[in-house]
Amino acid sequence: MNDMSEAKQAMEAIERHPDAQEVMAVQHYTDRLFSFRVTRPQSLRFRSGEFVMIGLLQENGKPLLRAYSIASPSWDDELEFYSIKVPDGPLTSKLQNIKVGDDIILRPKPVGTLVLDALIPGKRLFMLSTGTGFAPFASLVRDPETYEKFDEVVVTHTCRDVAELDYSKQLIGSLAEDPLIGEFVEGKLKYYPTTTREQSENMGRITDNINSGKVFDDLGIDALDPETDRVMLCGSMAFNTDVREILEAKGFEEGANSKPATFVLEKAFVGE
Ligand code: A2P
Repeated sequence: MNDMSEAKQAMEAIERHPDAQEVMAVQHYTDRLFSFRVTRPQSLRFRSGEFVMIGLLQENGKPLLRAYSIASPSWDDELEFYSIKVPDGPLTSKLQNIKVGDDIILRPKPVGTLVLDALIPGKRLFMLSTGTGFAPFASLVRDPETYEKFDEVVVTHTCRDVAELDYSKQLIGSLAEDPLIGEFVEGKLKYYPTTTREQSENMGRITDNINSGKVFDDLGIDALDPETDRVMLCGSMAFNTDVREILEAKGFEEGANSKPATFVLEKAFVGE
């Protein structure tokens, strides 16, 4: 009996994909959104805000991979991801069914521009997101370096419906009590969730709320200023284009790892 199970374990160890990571937790928010946590490869170093390729093995034995922002901070022992579920999406139609103990495939090569290194020093950091574009900011709001570099951190998240804000609301709500990050966040972090298709406390596209000044009035803060402010944005292509236009008209300049400036952007991944 023992010999049998040892033999089976040995077989599994041989067959396991070298980039396999075990699923440690899964949480579903709506029929369109879920998050999950996996083991972290010991060798993986990344900067909060970066993304990696993850996916599942197909029947032909080859992995089907998509780019996913790492939603957990760089100090976390595990890796967290926040995903959309597309019913006929090649990857997410299957990925949405993962259970604790399953394997996913993760290529440990982190990259991306939504990193603090791509911004020049400033006083306030704005992170503007729609939908799953909140994922890289879920990492950055849990990184002490964010609060060491900026006096004030403003995170906005816009979704169609109230339930789609659950992930960001729960995460931001838990920070004050977090033993590691709580003291950094206190008095520095402002969260501004808005919905566009269902009634909630704050309504409207963030683009409109920036143009009208509503977001700044609601938060009781000064309007955007390239002298003092740095901005990161992550959402749909149309969202990124529209916000970029607003920022450039105000005198902000797009930065990159090789040339830090006053704002950076990245498309929210996995459109499927
Ligand atoms: P809206 O409902 O007015 O389209 P999606 O679920 O389609 O990815 O959209 C997520 C959120 O982003 C929605 O609230 C949507 O608002 C908003 N959004 C989509 N495009 C833009 C844009 N170009 N500028 C600002 N907000 C946008």
